[in-house]
Amino acid sequence: MANVRFVERTPRELKYRPSDDEPKLAPSDVETIAQIFRTPLTGAYTWSYEEADRRIRKLYRLGKERNWNAETDIAWSTPFDRKASPINDGLDNPFEGWDSYEKLSEEEDIEFAWHQQSWLLSQFLHGEQGALLVASQLVSCAPTYDAKLYAASQTFDEARHVEVFNKYIMERIGFMYPINHNLKLLLDKVLTDERWDLKFIGMQLIIESLALAAFNTQKLISRDPVMSEVLELVTRDESRHVAFGVTYMEEFIKTLSESEREDRAQFAYEACCIMRERIVGTDVFAHYGWDIEEGRRRLLAGGMMEEFRNLLFMRIIPNLKKVGLITDRVRPLYEALGVLKYENLVDDGQIDWAKLEEPLPEYGGDQAPKLSGIKELAPRPRSATG
Ligand SMILES: [Fe+2]
Ligand SMILES: [Fe+2]
Repeated sequence: MANVRFVERTPRELKYRPSDDEPKLAPSDVETIAQIFRTPLTGAYTWSYEEADRRIRKLYRLGKERNWNAETDIAWSTPFDRKASPINDGLDNPFEGWDSYEKLSEEEDIEFAWHQQSWLLSQFLHGEQGALLVASQLVSCAPTYDAKLYAASQTFDEARHVEVFNKYIMERIGFMYPINHNLKLLLDKVLTDERWDLKFIGMQLIIESLALAAFNTQKLISRDPVMSEVLELVTRDESRHVAFGVTYMEEFIKTLSESEREDRAQFAYEACCIMRERIVGTDVFAHYGWDIEEGRRRLLAGGMMEEFRNLLFMRIIPNLKKVGLITDRVRPLYEALGVLKYENLVDDGQIDWAKLEEPLPEYGGDQAPKLSGIKELAPRPRSATG
């Protein structure tokens, strides 16, 4: 087993891909950094194996059928110039006119764009890990058979998402940013809360919607065809996850008392506020030694951020309404954010089956799974397996 080092503090440093001339580490020399979270998980067996919700069972079937392989279904060998900008030309640039930014040479400006790209994809990666952990908790916590099966298939989806973003970041960018502090707080809350439905709301309705909005924004700006392939495949899965969340929660929330429902509604609102303005790439400014607040202010005022917020709330507000979490008490709070205009848009409970059933695109993935290294694992003597 690799060395595991437990840390108290979430790492704040960038992680770089080892350069080609560095000696390759043997698996036993790899140091794994881990951080404990504690959770009072209340699980439930189910003793009813009948199909009780056709829509959830259908989502589960689709999850099985529309599986893809992060190693072989993406055309990783498609070249992309690492010295060219990762994002489309002509996009609104929120940093124009900022002294710190204007001092960059053309080359440095491109590298700065890669830093922003790396920061964003790193948040996708860490968020996907959070989704993996929560989905696995839901397998235990969800009280019904259909939901357990679905959560299990989602757990595997999230594992592939972690895999694919990590592969992209390390192979095509070369360095990774640590998790954003506020994203970490949101994941902590969802992972350590003892109420299973709050995990459900936090992950399936809120963080999944955030992911969809962020992926769709990224699709609009990315120039690397491989990134587009990754996003397309991941988004396909996430659409099922949100559909599951809305379908399952709609029924459940009806069973809560008014004060329990208000509690969930307040949590959802607070999570929306965090996502709206606290998960931005200030770590990039810190890395460059720039003024963090100035950078944050500029980012939040930029056109891409506006696009992202629109996509986020267009998705999240109809879903929260559908499941009954836009209560009279939180309604004015959303009104103040200016997002109630989205409340009558189509929600994810109105599942677009034709879209979810579309066959997966074929990208001509051309890299066989790496099996080298397997032979290094010589069979161990039985006595040493202890
Ligand atoms: Fe995911
Ligand atoms: Fe997901």
